[in-house]
Amino acid sequence: MAVGGFSGVDGPVGSFSGKITLSVVITCIVAASSGLIFGYDIGISGGVTTMQPFLQKFFPAVLRKAAEAKTNIYCIYDSQVLTSFTSSLYIAGLAASLVASRLTATVGRRNTMVFGGLTFLAGAAINGGAANVAMLILGRILLGFGVGFTNQATPVYLSEVAPPKWRGAFNTGFQFFIGIGVVAANCINFGTAKRSWGWRLSLGLAVVPAAIMTIGALFILDTPSSLIQRGKVEQARHALRKVRGKDCDVESELAELKKASDVAKEADQEPFVTIFERQYRPHLVMSIAIPFFQQLTGINIIAFYAPVLFQSVGFGNDSALIAAIILGLVNLASILVSTGVVDRFGRRFLFMEGGIQMFVCQVGVAVVLAVTTGVSGTKEISKGYAILVLVLMCIYASGFGWSWGPLSWLIPSEIFPIKIRPTGQSISVAVNFATTFVLSQTFLTMLCHFKYGTFLFYAAWNALMTIFVALFLPETKGIPLDSMNLVWEKHWYWRRFVCG
Ligand code: BGC
Repeated sequence: MAVGGFSGVDGPVGSFSGKITLSVVITCIVAASSGLIFGYDIGISGGVTTMQPFLQKFFPAVLRKAAEAKTNIYCIYDSQVLTSFTSSLYIAGLAASLVASRLTATVGRRNTMVFGGLTFLAGAAINGGAANVAMLILGRILLGFGVGFTNQATPVYLSEVAPPKWRGAFNTGFQFFIGIGVVAANCINFGTAKRSWGWRLSLGLAVVPAAIMTIGALFILDTPSSLIQRGKVEQARHALRKVRGKDCDVESELAELKKASDVAKEADQEPFVTIFERQYRPHLVMSIAIPFFQQLTGINIIAFYAPVLFQSVGFGNDSALIAAIILGLVNLASILVSTGVVDRFGRRFLFMEGGIQMFVCQVGVAVVLAVTTGVSGTKEISKGYAILVLVLMCIYASGFGWSWGPLSWLIPSEIFPIKIRPTGQSISVAVNFATTFVLSQTFLTMLCHFKYGTFLFYAAWNALMTIFVALFLPETKGIPLDSMNLVWEKHWYWRRFVCG
């Protein structure tokens, strides 16, 4: 028995697997750049909320508490107010991602991306000019709406436009741009941290990635599937010719898309109801489990904790931020590794390898911290050991970068039939945001109380998700979207749900 695996299909099964054209590459790079705004926000907000002038202006109580407290290395940033501020974006994003399901189905994937970009742009402008907490929060809610829309529409866009054989590689572009956004934001924070109005610049500069992706999106066509679904057959033919190449016969692919869209239209049911049908149970489980597990890898915790750790062991402010930049660059390079191998080795291999790698590193970090800083976390860690922790965190970040980072956007966007694809992606983004929200609400307190044990908590989740993938995730590499039902029909567990 091929447990969880999918032995029957190794390559594309469609006759129109499509070759890589310059046009499809450019289109997908432009679309993937939507990841910039999400990444920029992740990178900027962590840094801005540690800037003194920002805290003084908006959250003076946090500074007072920090000055009074004699804390260990795990409790420095344990502030509920700040956490709620940062995570307000995720609640707004969650709501927007659910609305986006209807929006991508009615106005198309591309227009939803444009809409998300514009909303984010407005939020960035308000935040940059914020005079009080109300403006700050309003801006943040708009940013949340923006990423809710783009994170829902972009992965679907990429999966629908990419040639099936290279869908994985093209889709990783989204995570790559998230990574670029994070690194760019870290560098900007590095430059602005020392100025009293630096936070304003950091927040306001979010208009740049928003403008880049919005303008870019205006220049690309919507996906052929989305155009067909909206009755624009001629435009779909044109879009397909554009991405598959002028000399490529697109008629069979077009017919296949039309067939899928007709089937979808026949069953004219609310997609949020359809998705709960028994035959879509495996899809639904994946769209919930994958983003949930992605957050439980602990990536945001590691990213947040790295600068704090290095600062607290006397590396100084600058080197703490440099540590964050190093982690970001390692992460970026590893996403490229994923781009290169995801359609060769498959998704399952990367998920499992990355999961094991992250597990080992987190156990390693926990052991080093326990041994060096003591059970209470008050002993000084030597520079040598701090570097060892940085190395472990880099190996961890590379594991995430070629597995759960990009693949958590890829899987939900490629497993659903067209009629519930936007709905599935919406659920997935909502779960991602909800889990990020809950973890960010709890993790600083958790770090403060469980100390190095926090890393063991995440290590255990990494072990669990690796076993989950081994048992339950079928291989989807190379399969055209419209033939994806095959992978469930052949799966040792899921076939009982999808076959009658
Ligand atoms: C995750 C984010 C994370 C980012 C790191 C994304 O895929 O959803 O939570 O911060 O990767 O680059």
